[in-house]
Amino acid sequence: MEASARACANIALAKYWGKADVKRNVPAVPSISLTLDQLATETRVRFDPSLSSDVVRLDGRRATEMEAERVVAMLDRVRREARLRLNAHVSSHNHFPTAAGLASSASGFAALAASASAAAGLRFNARRLSALARASSASAARSIYGGFVELPAGNRGDTDLAARPIAPPEHWNLRLVVALTEPGKKKISSTEGMERSRKTSPFYGAWLTQAPKWSRQIKRAIKERDLDTLGAAMEQSTLAFHCCAITSDPPIMYWAPSTLAALATVRGLRERGVSVWATMDAGPHVKALCGIGDATRVRQALDRTRGVTRTWVTKPGPDVEVHR
Ligand code: DP6
Repeated sequence: MEASARACANIALAKYWGKADVKRNVPAVPSISLTLDQLATETRVRFDPSLSSDVVRLDGRRATEMEAERVVAMLDRVRREARLRLNAHVSSHNHFPTAAGLASSASGFAALAASASAAAGLRFNARRLSALARASSASAARSIYGGFVELPAGNRGDTDLAARPIAPPEHWNLRLVVALTEPGKKKISSTEGMERSRKTSPFYGAWLTQAPKWSRQIKRAIKERDLDTLGAAMEQSTLAFHCCAITSDPPIMYWAPSTLAALATVRGLRERGVSVWATMDAGPHVKALCGIGDATRVRQALDRTRGVTRTWVTKPGPDVEVHR
């Protein structure tokens, strides 16, 4: 009745932004990601007859009510599948570089799906784990697999939509340089941001029709190891989803001045012949994708950029791992 799992974070190359079914958490657009080494969450779950309620601990502290609610919703799904009535003790640790400023929900819910289902005695394959993780946070569906991963768009009423691997980590030894910028305003969660975009941005419809094209281009470019094509489509995808956020009502501006400075650095390197491409998520930080031979140069240039507070270099990471 006890198991642990380790899952790595992922960064979307083709972004997921917007839901086809809010209740079942089904994405309205296809997305493609790269699972990252180092940035991992380790979660241990124990179903325990002596507990009178679920206990959730994150990085050594008690989870807030909001955090615990999402964890308990996942435990409830697992208990229903396993016909189990016991309460659980959940303890989760993020092995992210200090103050990484990166979302840990993808690795967190992937590790929770894998550890909770194993502890409950469910022998789920990767596909079912991915669908289970997706119900909590769609990007988590992708963290079940290592390397390059796609999550198709779904429809209203979908219950088993899952991610699938495109290529293993060793397929292409790319580097993602993460540049931590000074934060802008208080963060609006992706869940909230994409809902507001769907309901109020006049460009949301255009996003829905264009996003699949970038996804297809990125998938093909991964297969052909064509960084220039991948990078150009990746930048379009991130700029287009941020356009929806910025034009929402009230507007959501995830960028800080340092975000634009880092983008200029990436463009400047490109003008000097380096194939390096940027992407941003629901926050101000910039992640730059490049070949292994350019990683040091890209990192140094970002380190020198005004407002960038820290950088580090990540590489393609592995599948989720379960320990019983
Ligand atoms: C901008 O997976 O966090 O990082 O399904 O509501 O939990 P929920 O959203 P989440 O959204 C991630 C949004 C993104 C792009 C991406 O990772 O594809």
